[in-house]
Amino acid sequence: MLRHIFFQFLLLWFFGQAVHGISLLYHDEKWQPWNRQARHTTPLKMDMKLRRLDLSKSFIRQLHTLGLPHLQQLDLSYNQLDLIAEEAFINLAQLEALNLSKNALYNNVGRNGRALRSIGGLRRLDISLNNLNDEAVELYLQNKFSLIHLDLTGNGITALTHNTQIKTLKHLNLEDNGIQVLYANTFEKTSLAHLNLAGNRHMVLEEALSQLNLSNNHLDSIPVDWIK
Ligand SMILES: *[C@@H]1O[C@H](CO)[C@@H](O)[C@H](O)[C@H]1NC(C)=O
Ligand SMILES: *[C@@H]1O[C@H](CO)[C@@H](O)[C@H](O)[C@H]1NC(C)=O
Repeated sequence: MLRHIFFQFLLLWFFGQAVHGISLLYHDEKWQPWNRQARHTTPLKMDMKLRRLDLSKSFIRQLHTLGLPHLQQLDLSYNQLDLIAEEAFINLAQLEALNLSKNALYNNVGRNGRALRSIGGLRRLDISLNNLNDEAVELYLQNKFSLIHLDLTGNGITALTHNTQIKTLKHLNLEDNGIQVLYANTFEKTSLAHLNLAGNRHMVLEEALSQLNLSNNHLDSIPVDWIK
């Protein structure tokens, strides 16, 4: 237990140092990857002007407050993130794109949901490969009224309800979920340019499909056995 706490502490400290390091190193606007060199850099001060930050594949498990008011793009994909502090995104007023693909966000859904609520202005969100169920997805998308690109690939979604924020979307990827029910009005007021429903092939939904009005949408892919 103590050992565990110690390692957690070490990791958080390490993460803190590294974030300071990378922002110090890369104060220009170029997209810079998080690399080994950056991890070992000793911080002086955080560069507030950072616009893009790539923290993918960095073994991050918990995320604490990021004080980067100009940040527009944040990539946290391929970590082991399972807890995002409620205030983590509170200072990221300019954030437009957030990549949380391949993490463990099926944990601590309530707290993570509250953290995500503070970034209502997001336009691109990737929460693919997180083992999320319907409730988690609904919670994570709660106030996302300006989303245009949403990737939900490889989760455990069984249905899209009218509470799911998809009205503004142009691009929706629902590949490899367990969707069993599509309500007739789900896509009615949407104007998706790309909709991917491939890999949801456990069920035949002739009836639902025949009622779907997809006239404004362009289907990338729909499971073959849905159309009989
Ligand atoms: C998120 O990151 C993954 C892994 O790097 C990448 O494959 C995916 O395209 C990214 N998503 C978006 C919306 O850019
Ligand atoms: C489908 O939606 C379009 C535009 O929203 C509408 O013009 C059309 O009448 C609808 N079709 C059916 C069968 O409801």
